[in-house]
Formats: sequence, structure tokens, C-alpha cells
Amino acid sequence: MKMRAKIEEIFDSKELQEYTVEGWVRTARVGKKISFVEVYDGSSLKGLQCVCFDKELLEGISTGCSVKIIGDLVESQGAGQSHELVITAFTILGECDDTFPMQKKEHTMEFFRENAHLRCRTKLFHSIMKIRSVASQFTHQYFSEKGVNQYFTPILTSSDCEGAGETFKLEDKDFFGKESHLTISGQIELEYGALSMGDVYTFSPTFRAENSHTTKHLAEFWMIERESAFMNMKEAIIDSYWFLHSTMLYVISNCREELEYLETINEGHLDKLMKVAESNFHSITYEDAIEKLGLEWLSDIDTDNEKKLVDMYDGIPVVITHFPSKMKPFYMKESCKNEDLISTGEGTVEGFDIIFPEVGELVGGSQREDSYDVLVNKMTEAGLDLSEYQEYLDTRKYGSVVHSGYGIGFERLVMFLTGTKNIRDVIPFPKTPK
Ligand code: 4AD
Repeated sequence: MKMRAKIEEIFDSKELQEYTVEGWVRTARVGKKISFVEVYDGSSLKGLQCVCFDKELLEGISTGCSVKIIGDLVESQGAGQSHELVITAFTILGECDDTFPMQKKEHTMEFFRENAHLRCRTKLFHSIMKIRSVASQFTHQYFSEKGVNQYFTPILTSSDCEGAGETFKLEDKDFFGKESHLTISGQIELEYGALSMGDVYTFSPTFRAENSHTTKHLAEFWMIERESAFMNMKEAIIDSYWFLHSTMLYVISNCREELEYLETINEGHLDKLMKVAESNFHSITYEDAIEKLGLEWLSDIDTDNEKKLVDMYDGIPVVITHFPSKMKPFYMKESCKNEDLISTGEGTVEGFDIIFPEVGELVGGSQREDSYDVLVNKMTEAGLDLSEYQEYLDTRKYGSVVHSGYGIGFERLVMFLTGTKNIRDVIPFPKTPK
């Protein structure tokens, strides 16, 4: 009995021999003399064309059913594929009736979201999730090659990184003996990692209880976070640039088939991706950005203005630096040395955002405040309970050093890589309000 061959292996070897294939039927055209069945098994985007000269063999076939096929690989007479499998034996493993939602017809994206458990059977979602997988695996490979240690930040935590009240609280306070919640960022713990192991990253789920009904926000999303000792803001920006640049190039060269399929749905996407992958990002201070946009000091640069800014730079990503201290969390390093400005909160911080075309803010990062005294002042001003942050302050007490880091929203990165308009479509099971 022949072992099962994956369809991708058959495409790779193209040896004209007998194969056993197991998969699902994407399309079936049963004719009197000749029938065509396209089978896929998840190993490649493209299915294997199978030809059958005895329609009796295909009894009970339908779109979506799972099958086992034994056949001989031959060179194809038809256009569209170089090889095809001539069926000699055919077994239905699992039937599929016509209530199967992923029939080959036009569906709305909302319909696919309602059928998230089945939507990866389509070429569209297969392509997106494949690119997501490749980008995720590349992330670990990239940092590993650069000697950056993977540091495992917790999901359950009691530290509140952004100083905002956007956390999902755990109900059972008695269990840990204090209020705990799902993490909104691994940064605090990642700083402990960097201030002991030098270069670290974490790639894990994060949770935000913000009531944002947009195409760019999820309640559960994955973040790639990098933190390094002895790295300043400028170096952190360059570091994030190289990571993004390398990821885009890697996906372009390793997901050709998926990108070409996505191009049929969103024409021009591949060109946009190539252009950004090959570009140098622009850098501009917050002060210059608001001047260009005609905004006031302390104005939030919202989605529309992010878009305007990127358009001003011909669709190339823009790094915005030196935000007002008042707009950013307590941990960002004050840029100015003027104590008066710092104490009145009129200063700026060594913080940056990277704005991408289509997806908006993709990266948020900063140099961290490393002065014990300044940090205590900033925390006090932010109304934080210092007793909750003793461990954090310890790292500024015992051998404090310049250090910086950044966080990249992984779903937004996948949106950009795949040209997907809604963040709900780049994660298998999106979680949003209601
Ligand atoms: O700018 P943010 O909030 O930065 C932090 O959490 C820092 N502590 C990270 C760090 O320095 N280690 O979030 C970082 C990125 C954003 O730029 C955005 O891409 C993404 O995370 N993000 C979201 N993605 C999906 N849904 C949401 N609700 C998101 N909120 C932020």
C-alpha cells in the first residue's frame, strides 16, 4: 500500500508514477466520458487536477467532501496545469452535502467571518493564513539569527504597562491575592529581560478592552516586542526598520503563489508591497508633522491624518518622533534636559510611531526613562501607586542603563503584507466588542 503523498510534494517531484492523495474536493465536473476533480490538502494553494475516465468511480462526489484518490501522474493535455493525476481508485472519506457554506460562489466578507471555522478552505483565507504563518516563523528565525533571546512575558499580570484602564480584569481576585488582568503589552517584563539578558523579544497575544469598532482594532491581538539594553531611540527605529524590511522581502520571495492569488482580488497590491519593502522610511518630528497637517500642539494624529501624512510622502512609511510627554505613557524617556519643562509636562519624549500606508500605526516604541528620579516624578504625576512599581523602579536603582524597545502589531503587519482591508480577516478567530 503506497504512502500518502502531499500535493506540494507531487508538484515538486513531478515524477510520473502512482500516488495516493488525501484531501478535499474543491470542484468536480462529472462528464459522460471524462470527469475533472480538483483536490486540495492544504499543503499548497493550488489544488491537484485529477482526471477520471469512469464516472461510476466518482459516485457521491460533491464540493467539500473529503476523498482518498489513487492515480497515475501524467503530463497534462490541458492548459492551466503541467501535470494531472489519472484516477484509478476513488474513495469518499467524509461526505459533504449542499448545505456546505463554502460553495464556489461569491460570498461577502461578513459571510466568511460568520463561518470562521470553515473559511480557510477558500483560496483567499488559505493565502492570508499561509502568509501569516510564514511571517510568524520568519520573526523567530530573524531574531534568532541576530542573537536576540526569546523572553517569555506573561499573559496574566498585575502590571499595567500603558497606564491606561483598557485591561480585561480577572474576576477571581482571591486567587492571586490582588487585582490581575490579561496583559496589554509585555513591555514591562521585557524590560526586565533586556536589563539582564541584553537583547530580547517576545511574540505573544495581548488584550485590549477598548471599545473600538474599527477595521484596525482587535480585543485580542499578537504583538512582536523587542527590547534592548544600550540601545537609544534612533537605534530602535533603525532596528525596527530592518526587521520590517526583511520580513517584507522574505514574504515576497517565499509566498509568491499566495501573493499572486491575492493580486487577483486586490490589483496593485504586490507593487505597493514591493515599493515599501524597497524604500527607506521617512522620519519627521511630531512638531513638524502637526505643522504639515495644520494641527494644534497635543492634537492626536488620527487615522485620516495618518493617511494624509503617508500620502504626502508618496505612500512610503513615516516615522513620527518626539511626541509631547503629555501624550505618551510614563515610561518614555524625556528628550529635553530642562527640568522646568519636564515638571510642567511641556517637554517631548524619545518616543516614535511608524505609520504605514493602508494600516496606519504599525509600530509604537521608545527609549525608556532610565533615571530613577525622573521616573518617580513621572509616575507620581501620572497618579500611579509607586508601591505597585517597586520592581520596575529597582531596575533603575541597580545598574540602570539606556534601553529602548518597540512593539509591532502583528495583525496590522499581516494586513499590509496581504493587502487585507479588515483586521478581522487576518487572524483565524477575531475577537472584537460584542
Ligand atoms: O503603540 P502600542 O500601544 O505600544 C505598546 O503597547 C508598547 N508597550 C510596545 C512596546 O514598546 N514594547 O502598541 C503597539 C502596536 C501598535 O503600533 C499597533 O500596531 C498594535 O500594537 N496595536 C493593535 N493592533 C490591533 N488591535 C489593537 N487594539 C491594537 N492596539 C495596538
